[in-house]
Amino acid sequence: MTKIRELPKSLADTRSAELLFNAIADFYDMSQATVLDMFARDGAITIRSYQDKVRNVHAWELDGKHERILSNINNVSEVVVGCSYTHLQRSKGTLQGHYDMVVLDTPLGLHRDEEGNTRCEHFDALRGVIDSGILKDKSLIVMYCNRNPYNRDEIGSHGYDEYEDYNFDEWMALRATFYKVSGPLTEEQMISAYRSVALQYGYQLSGVIATPCHSDIQGSPPYAFRLCLELTKD
Ligand SMILES: C[S@@+](CC[C@H](N)C(=O)[O-])C[C@H]1O[C@@H](n2cnc3c(N)ncnc32)[C@H](O)[C@@H]1O
Repeated sequence: MTKIRELPKSLADTRSAELLFNAIADFYDMSQATVLDMFARDGAITIRSYQDKVRNVHAWELDGKHERILSNINNVSEVVVGCSYTHLQRSKGTLQGHYDMVVLDTPLGLHRDEEGNTRCEHFDALRGVIDSGILKDKSLIVMYCNRNPYNRDEIGSHGYDEYEDYNFDEWMALRATFYKVSGPLTEEQMISAYRSVALQYGYQLSGVIATPCHSDIQGSPPYAFRLCLELTKD
């Protein structure tokens, strides 16, 4: 069996993002696309992988320290600093049918919105974006999908998952509710859950592109993939 190549931690994440966005741009004409990157950080992993393939990018990010660097990225036409969940609610009226692609690179596990509600991975953002009406009738949603999160309290954090809201049991319970299966998941089980969410809001899941992520923990098997959902409304 061919051994999976290992990449240094610094490269693992960006390489998988580049792989996915290159595949998207090969398959779809993105040259006129308007894109929302809803959890942008400084754009180093996602926006930098596609900004030259699209018409313009709106970058939303909680932490104001990234504002200047985001504003200076080519094709980023708008930067919004603040809670993206709140901003999504506020934008419902003004951004109807606006985006060709929305990137949901949320924090890996639990995080909070401005009102202190717990949000888990991309689950709430995915539902919120599809429900909000900001997508075109045919749109792409891009996410980082973790098949098998590890428990930092058992095997160590590897430099990740060092945040106040970390709670492995609550995280796993919210995953089981969303995916309707607990424990390690297959790509098929996860895609099936995304299809159900799309259908709930009147969209068909009309296509997918998936690229595996190298593990950024040396010696560990890959546990995540990046996924592009093509959603279509009749
Ligand atoms: C995984 S990082 C995004 C990485 C990014 N795509 C890149 O290219 O580097 C997740 C980001 O979500 C931000 N975030 C967390 N909660 C948020 C919220 N409620 N609203 C907006 N951004 C949030 C964090 O500050 C962090 O920068």
